[in-house]
Amino acid sequence: MNAIITEEVEALLGQADFTGTLDWDGFAVMWGRMVRRIVLGDSARDDERVTEDLRRLRKRGNLSYLMPQNRRLRERFLGRLQEYVDRAEPGSLAAMVAQTPAPEDAQPVQQMPQWLFAFDAEAWATFRALSLAVAHPGAADEARAEMSQAPDLPYLRATVLESLRLWPTTPLVLRDTTAETRWRNGTLPAGTALVIFAPFCHRDDATLPEAHRFSPDLWMRDRDDSDWPLVPFSGGPGMCPGRNVVLLTSSLVLGELLNRRDLTAGKPLDTGHLPGTLSPFSSTFTVRRR
Ligand code: HEM
Repeated sequence: MNAIITEEVEALLGQADFTGTLDWDGFAVMWGRMVRRIVLGDSARDDERVTEDLRRLRKRGNLSYLMPQNRRLRERFLGRLQEYVDRAEPGSLAAMVAQTPAPEDAQPVQQMPQWLFAFDAEAWATFRALSLAVAHPGAADEARAEMSQAPDLPYLRATVLESLRLWPTTPLVLRDTTAETRWRNGTLPAGTALVIFAPFCHRDDATLPEAHRFSPDLWMRDRDDSDWPLVPFSGGPGMCPGRNVVLLTSSLVLGELLNRRDLTAGKPLDTGHLPGTLSPFSSTFTVRRR
């Protein structure tokens, strides 16, 4: 994964040097190539059709009760994923699927669409983390120092986690309670459906004085259940199983970008009180060789 990220970020920056700007469109092309190589294998780098097929299926899925199913498209997409599993290119997640024992009736390929689309959220989180690192004096230098001591990247990891705390990509977590729970204004019976609204906890300035500021320190120490809940990847047995892949790949992309160029934000962030939302799609950065 490290080698893939180095190559793809280098290609992206080659393009950015040409225009002097890094924007979402360029970043998203790089991201798609990186994700296909990591999940499906190196030969999938330019297989934009597989990404486009998934995009079309997801778009139809949003209207699933109104639209007829497009079985041909679905079969073509899943068939393509199976081809990559059969190819099992070394280092890819597809190779891990091929090597992992599974019962006869299991369909491991059916997991892979989620892996592919879940990387979208990571792309937004990474581009927002870049805005944070560029806006905060000293953050880029800290990241560069850390890159020279890889493989542990605690500061870069914390920067990505801050991006996810400030702007969670999964703001709602759903649960059914297994026991009676007591609240300030009453009691709920076991079996109650709950919506856990992550931003309510992540931005609670009554409990976290640093709620609206970039505070990587929140993540640089060990956290346990007695800490105020920060749940960008949820918690408990349903916690995102992809979280370490996310934090590894996101912090490497961020580290490579900061380490290789000087970046300046097109529009500065208000670092004293960070905004409640931040669109990655309109963020731009001026790029200069170091
Ligand atoms: C910024 C990126 C990501 C975030 C913030 C994130 C967060 C989450 C959250 C909050 C859940 C729901 C857990 C729950 O219901 O309690 C989840 C589920 C899941 N995530 Fe992620 N995720 C990300 C990326 C990924 C990636 C890249 C993968 C795979 C490579 C992945 C694999 C999964 C899977 C398989 C589940 C379902 C787990 C289950 O139902 O048991 N996620 N994720």
